[in-house]
Amino acid sequence: NTPDNHVPRDPRLIRLTGVHPFNVEPPLTDLYKEGFLTSPELFYVRNHGPVPQVNDVDIPNWEISIEGLVEKPLVLNFREVLQKYDQITAPITLVCAGNRRKEQNTVRKSKGFSWGPAGLSTALFTGPMMADIIRSAKPLRSAKYVCMEGADKLPNGFYGTSVKLNWAMDPNRGIMLAHKMNGEDLRPDHGRPLRAVVPGQIGGRSVKWLKKLILTDAPSDNWYHINDNRVLPTMVSPEMSAQDRKWWTDDRYAIYDLNVNSVAAYPQHEEELDLAMAGPTYTAKGYAYAGGGRRITRVEISLDGGKCTNISYDDNLKVDKANTCVFLPAWRLCEIEYAEDKYRNFEGNLFGGKVDMWWREASFCWSFWSLEIPVSDLEASDAILVRAVDEALAAQPRDMYWSVLGMMNNPWFRVTITKEG
Ligand code: MTE
Repeated sequence: NTPDNHVPRDPRLIRLTGVHPFNVEPPLTDLYKEGFLTSPELFYVRNHGPVPQVNDVDIPNWEISIEGLVEKPLVLNFREVLQKYDQITAPITLVCAGNRRKEQNTVRKSKGFSWGPAGLSTALFTGPMMADIIRSAKPLRSAKYVCMEGADKLPNGFYGTSVKLNWAMDPNRGIMLAHKMNGEDLRPDHGRPLRAVVPGQIGGRSVKWLKKLILTDAPSDNWYHINDNRVLPTMVSPEMSAQDRKWWTDDRYAIYDLNVNSVAAYPQHEEELDLAMAGPTYTAKGYAYAGGGRRITRVEISLDGGKCTNISYDDNLKVDKANTCVFLPAWRLCEIEYAEDKYRNFEGNLFGGKVDMWWREASFCWSFWSLEIPVSDLEASDAILVRAVDEALAAQPRDMYWSVLGMMNNPWFRVTITKEG
């Protein structure tokens, strides 16, 4: 018995915390097999507490307020949000900042639970642009942030966070409110009836069960904004962070745009492959994403530990030519499929929303990579390493940046090849 008894759930979802609150990722193979769009029942869920119970008959009267530093404070009901504002439909990948945290927890336990590599999902979201709603409340010049507040009651108050107002007003950032996923009403776990969707940023900014937009001159002071979704300097231990509040109130450590990341679904961590059955080649496959609307521009695989891209330095910090190896084509270039392009060129309406605008110029979705590898090369290797690079040439790092909340983990994805005998 949990406060969520009213919420239907798919038994395939893997629970990452106890029975309650509900925090789940789909099995990576199921997620990958679904392709570009994730069905709502398999979409990962990150809930800090109970799902607010909303009856169907009450939804038309669900209210959100736009308040704070505005000339004309507004209260809109759900019907007005749908009728008074242009509706947009756009494909967006949401990613939990804890995606791949399990690898961090294996090295050293962080304060977060162990997400595997499936803490992300993609849907076509439909709803109005947040900018249009804010504009109708006439923001004051002094407003710099939009604080968002959800309806879920948690031990430390409502869930809330903020983003910069100029991001919310920028059509290229695509920040919207959504009431539909893949053409159906939002499911209770995903914010029914109304949520924010902040593309290209960590999932924690996309507030579900949205009740308030408050314009302010400072970032949100909500408990969850301060105590969650941060990457503190790597030397801060769980003990230090609990004792010293200064780490949490320094807004430089709050995270917004996602960092570049990639994961292999074939093969997966701990997967047992029968290479004898594989034929002459094996096709490695997986996904990659970047933040802030940046496109993935390459995904590369190394079977030799990536070592041949390293410049080595000797004790005098002079380049150690004997151990330097920058010219060998050690990283193999993968094919990339940008499935979102299908929607980029789409003309017209989908699910009552115009498929157009901002996201034609940006990439807010995952893409899929693949590479055919001779089985003999796999047999000669100890590990498959995968790394992605985005259009700003940000590349996944070789080393893990461990931090106390275990967030934004994105070192080269590594699948060890173990050999029998
Ligand atoms: N909004 C509310 N109101 N309450 C929450 O617990 N969790 C956040 C965000 N919005 C949360 C929320 C986090 S940390 C993430 S990663 C995303 O919702 C997850 O969205 P999803 O459950 O629809 O996948």
